[in-house]
Amino acid sequence: MNLSPDFIPSLVSPNVSADALSTQSPIKLGILASGGGSNFEAVAQAIKDGQLSAQIQVLIYNNPDAYAAVRAAKWGIPAILLNHRDYKSREELDRQIVQTLREYDVGWVVMAGWMRLVTSVFIDAFPDKIINIHPSLLPSFKGSRAVEQALASEVKITGCTVHIVCLEMDSGPILMQAAVPVLLDDTPETLHARIQVQEHRILPAAIALAAQLHKATL
Ligand code: GRF
Repeated sequence: MNLSPDFIPSLVSPNVSADALSTQSPIKLGILASGGGSNFEAVAQAIKDGQLSAQIQVLIYNNPDAYAAVRAAKWGIPAILLNHRDYKSREELDRQIVQTLREYDVGWVVMAGWMRLVTSVFIDAFPDKIINIHPSLLPSFKGSRAVEQALASEVKITGCTVHIVCLEMDSGPILMQAAVPVLLDDTPETLHARIQVQEHRILPAAIALAAQLHKATL
């Protein structure tokens, strides 16, 4: 079967777009990424296209060769390297992350491929305002090998989840999910590519949803 990922059916729930959820005043985002940064770019593009009322104040990355930093430069967004290898503990790294986010006047944090466990130092500094995207239908397949695990367990449907971050890894209230089929000839790469098409759709929408839900509770 040779279908483009765009043509494969998907199911998004709740099925609301970011622009339908547009908040009055733009929210100020800090994005954390460890790798390629395609989700960072999807958020930047959604903002540019007027689909998400937000601005990206800063990108924080932890791997010196993360391509996300190159993307940030292209968008004219400040990119700060906080290399976890330079810190004695997770708490010490998180203290520096919080300080940097404050310096850039960040209100909401998006972990877009941030491959580090977070501590209460970080969570307590931005209560209910840290968002994560994960390449599985949580609570299935937590951790860094979610796509491989979905393939190995021979599920026929998998997808991605955007959720509020809590201390337990890949847990916390779910904001939005998208499902995609697993095809017979899938490799981790082809399946991940299909999931990422959906990630790029739901991450901006889920950020808008989180901001709106938050506003409604004030
Ligand atoms: C995404 O699949 C995300 O779900 C996971 O890490 C990947 C990051 O991709 N947490 P990218 O760097 O945004 O391209």
